[in-house]
Amino acid sequence: MNRRIINWIVTRMVCWQPKRHKQPETLETGGNMVTVPVDDATRTRIQNLRLARGWNEDELADKAGVSDTHIRNLEDTNSGRGPNFRKRELDMIAVAFGLTLPQLMGICQMPTGTTYLPRHFDSLIDQCRKVDQSLLPIIRDLTIEDEMVDGAYRDLLAERLRQCGYRRDEIMDQIRNRYWLDAVSNQVPPPDLTIDIDDQMQSLVYRFGDVAVDIPNPQLVWDCHCDSPGTKYDSSYCPFHSSEHKDELDSRMSNGHVAFNYHGHKFYWRRGRELWPPSIDSLHMLSDLESYGLSELRCKSLLDLGAGTGFLGICATTRNPNITTLTFSDWLLTPCVYSMTNWALNRASRRHVTASSELGLFTWWNKLGTPTYDIVICNPPYLPIIGDHRDLRGRSTVAGTDLLKYIICHAKEIGKQVFIQFSNLAAKDACIAEQKSGNRLQPVGDPHSVPFRVPAALERPEYLARLETLGLQLNHNHRHPYWHTVRTYLIKSYDTHC
Ligand SMILES: C[S@@+](CC[C@H](N)C(=O)[O-])C[C@H]1O[C@@H](n2cnc3c(N)ncnc32)[C@H](O)[C@@H]1O
Repeated sequence: MNRRIINWIVTRMVCWQPKRHKQPETLETGGNMVTVPVDDATRTRIQNLRLARGWNEDELADKAGVSDTHIRNLEDTNSGRGPNFRKRELDMIAVAFGLTLPQLMGICQMPTGTTYLPRHFDSLIDQCRKVDQSLLPIIRDLTIEDEMVDGAYRDLLAERLRQCGYRRDEIMDQIRNRYWLDAVSNQVPPPDLTIDIDDQMQSLVYRFGDVAVDIPNPQLVWDCHCDSPGTKYDSSYCPFHSSEHKDELDSRMSNGHVAFNYHGHKFYWRRGRELWPPSIDSLHMLSDLESYGLSELRCKSLLDLGAGTGFLGICATTRNPNITTLTFSDWLLTPCVYSMTNWALNRASRRHVTASSELGLFTWWNKLGTPTYDIVICNPPYLPIIGDHRDLRGRSTVAGTDLLKYIICHAKEIGKQVFIQFSNLAAKDACIAEQKSGNRLQPVGDPHSVPFRVPAALERPEYLARLETLGLQLNHNHRHPYWHTVRTYLIKSYDTHC
């Protein structure tokens, strides 16, 4: 036999081994047909990653090169499909996300900077509040006079977010993402309390379960004077606390999800120092803007600066059909999330509008000065900081006039038509900003007299005495003893700036 053939036979015999059973394959080993069990946490992670990138199921399927049914089965725990999926497809999905398979499966840590905000509404809001509560006491002390203010705010924000595992740009992209937002707004729980506000604020109806408590001729959205120091009235006169449902009302208003129904729109809010509710001031500002011709203004872009629940920006955008770009901004995360969620809940008739949210001090997130908005609406804090009462800034959301002064001084850089509302108590600060900038405040509508109900201010007689010199009115015959006036202005810009 040919020597080469003999050698070949010998080599084959030496190398031959009986066929062994195939070893079970792990995530690290290869194999096209290998399947791996996918738990519920991984399914949710995959869905969150997809939503955070703004992809629908088909887009993820395309990017990963797998079928869209595969993605739907994978994400849907109720699909009836067993827990095992082919490793090869999972690998491809991981690659589409820029991850390794163990990262996708949660077996090893995600690369830093890929932590996303939760999609579940309650957990999302809890996370936002956690960040804001650690920011709030400090940022309220950063003043516009301090040159480091924006840098200090940014550093502080970045540090607080990092402590929770977030990166600013990533979570802001997430908040702006339409798919993610849809998923969040679909999970907003039913409200614990709804407040129906009629057009002219002639009446308010508070509802929960089958109960409806009617408040005729209200002065405020929560028209209670009970915790106002200095009130001469017995608490039995309070429209809320004289109701047989007082405890339930109080507890739902203080701790629950509250939905304000106004003009066919619904605005969610939950009490906390991070989030300002739609208030009598906001309602007056909106009606002033409407009388000014808001619905016919020729404008495409609108900025709601200091947006809170987004009430003003959303109402304005649903009134004016020309607006195609809506931006909310606030220095806290909770209002950014609430305003976008409220937008998602109310945008049915305005699907063509692109909404986004900016987190930052004043408008310093828009350093380059572009874009300049067609309309800017701002209802800023208005309580002046006088004498030794600097600590008020930390105690009340309406304390401090920095945003008010900033917008008067910078109106021209920010927008073509800039509307602002403030109290007569802030008139002196507004006037200083006018003089410094050369800009002028042109009244839009009449002044509105409203109860002054800032508990942190009402407990300080000396401070109240100072406010009286600035225009705070006393009315001993009313259950709200203190009153001030709010008025809307259009800022007329001239060429000089502060
Ligand atoms: C009185 S609330 C008005 C909220 C809302 N626009 C409304 O009318 O219902 C003022 C808002 O401005 C925000 N704010 C205060 N100072 C700010 C600043 N320097 N930069 C950005 N937002 C600020 C607050 O967080 C708050 O949401």
